[in-house]
Amino acid sequence: MRRSLALAAALVAVLAVPRNALAHARLVTSDPPDLCAGVPAPAADSRCVTGVVVAAPPPIVRLTFNEPVQPIGPGIRVVAPSGRRVERGPARASGRSVSVAVDAAEPGTYVVTWRVVSGDAQPERGRFAFSVSRPTATLAALPDDRGAALRSGFVLAVLGRALHFLGYALGFGSLAFRWLVIRPLGVPGVAAFDHALWRVTRAGAAALVLAEPLVGLGHALRLGVAGDADVLADVLESRVGLVIGQRLGIALALWAMLTALETGSSVALKLALALGSALAVIDGQAVHAVSVRPLAAGLVTNAVHVAAMGTWVGVVIALLVVWRAADVAPARAAIAARTGRVATIALLVAMASGTVLSFQHLTGTGDLARTLYGRVIVTKVATLIVVVALAMAARRNGVAAPERWWRGELAGLVAVLLLAAALVSLAPPA
Ligand code: HEM
Repeated sequence: MRRSLALAAALVAVLAVPRNALAHARLVTSDPPDLCAGVPAPAADSRCVTGVVVAAPPPIVRLTFNEPVQPIGPGIRVVAPSGRRVERGPARASGRSVSVAVDAAEPGTYVVTWRVVSGDAQPERGRFAFSVSRPTATLAALPDDRGAALRSGFVLAVLGRALHFLGYALGFGSLAFRWLVIRPLGVPGVAAFDHALWRVTRAGAAALVLAEPLVGLGHALRLGVAGDADVLADVLESRVGLVIGQRLGIALALWAMLTALETGSSVALKLALALGSALAVIDGQAVHAVSVRPLAAGLVTNAVHVAAMGTWVGVVIALLVVWRAADVAPARAAIAARTGRVATIALLVAMASGTVLSFQHLTGTGDLARTLYGRVIVTKVATLIVVVALAMAARRNGVAAPERWWRGELAGLVAVLLLAAALVSLAPPA
């Protein structure tokens, strides 16, 4: 175990050199220019209502982002002063740019609406105005883009992601408990304790399946599904849908393997744990890991972090579940001691990889106080300190009455998972 830890640390250290995180897609420039880029309340700013006034009709509208993006549906919509759509076909992406040919001969104010998915499978949208010859827009033509649907989409996506992490810990963490705690101790897997532990694994697979519609719907709401029923289908056809499909595939494969697992087959257990490792790598495609260069540095660090998180949370839950089973009573002390060792190693790995992730996504320590992303990291670390204090209190209390400390530890861990889900949904500073 010590050798594999050293190997993982060396791998992360070698790979995690330069940080060039681009993360969430951001509109950098546009043609015609977006005068409202970076304006906190576009609806209230007069520059945003009519936009730039150009003398001649632009033949195309081109948007350039800070990273390559994938247009969702038509990608760019341009509405003339008369309300007519003026794009000549769907938008085309080329590198960091997305463009569409337009027929903007009509004088007056046009509204451009764009929807894209970034490299880390995050949906982004925006709108701005420009005027040909003379402005004609009213405030109503450019409503504020960040309404209730956007906020509820964000909350739904965060909840979906937190459920995914919890499902990962329940499903694969409980299997890690069997592999790393029960198997080496030779505890016979019988009756109540065994059934209870399989229920945890099954609940994990179910949570993994349930999390995906929440994430997909959250992303669709963020893109404005309320005004366009096709958006959900467009989201599912994009990179977001690809990651959702891969995650669902793994969750269903775990579910399908449960019968073989329940026979006690060690081959099935090894295969299921390999599935868990694959899911940890897949998870990296839907977070900021994809924008780290070299890419392997982002994916490996993230996968190590996810696997360590799943192991820690999973073994704590599994310990709570088996603790009550009568047939496990004689081995309680040994199980608690070994679970403690596994949980400590998993925590150390999570902390080390979490520190590397922070290094990859922050531009400096100042970001920890200056940005929301940084403040969420600080809150997460503070919550972790409380969790570690509870774990140490449980150890001090011996095996006599540690359950209430473990329950506190578990509540803290769920809070950490919610904070992690918020973290991956926010734009990092780097
Ligand atoms: C020193 C401690 C830690 C720090 C500094 C830290 C920091 C981070 C950072 C920067 C990210 C990347 C978010 C992004 O993609 O933008 C992250 C992700 C995450 N962290 Fe931590 N973390 C720490 C410990 C933990 C622990 C102990 C847990 C588990 C209980 C945990 C759970 C997660 C999860 C679930 C993710 C999301 C990974 C994914 O979506 O692929 N973290 N963390």
